[in-house]
Amino acid sequence: MLKEKMLAALNEQINAEQYSSLLYLSMSAYLNDIGLPGFANWMYVQYQEELSHANKFFNYVVERGGKVELKAIKQMPTSWEGVIDIYEATLEHERLVTNLINNLVDVAIEERDHAAQSFLRWFVDEQVEEEANVTEILDTLKLINGQGNGIFMLDREMRTRTFVDSTTAV
Ligand code: FEO
Repeated sequence: MLKEKMLAALNEQINAEQYSSLLYLSMSAYLNDIGLPGFANWMYVQYQEELSHANKFFNYVVERGGKVELKAIKQMPTSWEGVIDIYEATLEHERLVTNLINNLVDVAIEERDHAAQSFLRWFVDEQVEEEANVTEILDTLKLINGQGNGIFMLDREMRTRTFVDSTTAV
């Protein structure tokens, strides 16, 4: 059984992951609009990943016998100042999510909820990967200054990303 504080924190995280998914969907729409379909695809896959994260939390709360309480999702931005700005915003957002996950681990430790600590380990590792991936793309974008032939080629590469649901992997 989940303790009240742990349950509340997990419900907050479902909302945060749902917000993340819609933030990236909004970014995908923007990237399509500025003529970068490959980057838009990368961001769409990111949206699918975040949705799978939200669902992983949802299913965990249910599994532990807690009541999921969905909350309103705040309005996400709809425009940015180009592709570098988008990836800077993405990195900033992922750092924020890392903090949220760390706070959740803190609550699990405080509540002596060993099961939740074990469950959260997957997200701790996932955040390391998320930040590294975004940092790599951002570094490349800065190298080519977000334009010219480089951006055209990078956009083609981004087109190849596909969604693989890693939340169910054992
Ligand atoms: Fe669900 Fe990108 O963190």
